[in-house]
Amino acid sequence: MKKIAAFNWKLKPTNIKEAQATLRAHKKYAKAHPDVQVVSAPPMPFVHKLISDVSPVGLCAQDVSTKFDGAHTGQSSAAMLREVGCSYVIVGHSERRAEFGETDTMVSKKAQIALEQGLTPIICFGEDDRDAQGRYVDLLTEQLKGSLELISDKNSSKIVLAYEPIWAIGTGASITTDDLFSTLILIKKILVDIYGERRANKVQILYGGSVKDHNADELAAVPGVSGFLVGGASHKPEMVKAIIASLA
Ligand code: 13P
Repeated sequence: MKKIAAFNWKLKPTNIKEAQATLRAHKKYAKAHPDVQVVSAPPMPFVHKLISDVSPVGLCAQDVSTKFDGAHTGQSSAAMLREVGCSYVIVGHSERRAEFGETDTMVSKKAQIALEQGLTPIICFGEDDRDAQGRYVDLLTEQLKGSLELISDKNSSKIVLAYEPIWAIGTGASITTDDLFSTLILIKKILVDIYGERRANKVQILYGGSVKDHNADELAAVPGVSGFLVGGASHKPEMVKAIIASLA
């Protein structure tokens, strides 16, 4: 399975010219490393403008509705995302959980509806704090089980997980390689509980939280890391280059 370098643009940039430049960098380094699956998640208004020239990058949305259609102002359905050329969608990002009160149940529904439409959901989860008492272990377990509740055994091979500790996002302070390794073992154990060992081994787990050019190599070398979900560095070509190269 190819490793995945997924770039979450968040609410940037403000204009189409810069958006084209960002995508250009993703495409350039994706072409240089065909063994890495590069995924790019622009803000929705730019997707249609960018889709005609996206290959070999996989186009990704930053969110999806839990609904198929109807009276739901401001939302985009999974079928619409597929229609405009998306093949991936991020669900349950911590910023959406915090700003829009998304629950594990909603996240699971979003992942399920994405799968029904042939999209690959990138399901995000992560603790807000790494307390000395280890409460984060219970929180991660609960969050992951809740977010996967509607994902059948059969579909478990079609999802991607993104472990994004909230305390590391946008701070420049990434997780240590030891902590990442032990957390990946914990995540794997939870997956074995849910899906059994054979299926659990097939689930790809990305790390997200201040992945930059200077730490990508050491994080990529942690056993169990299937790739990265990158925020701020998505808009910096030199960082994009180093991050994709670290996964090759
Ligand atoms: P940063 O890489 O800016 O820390 O963001 C990570 C993230 O939230 C990606 O979804």
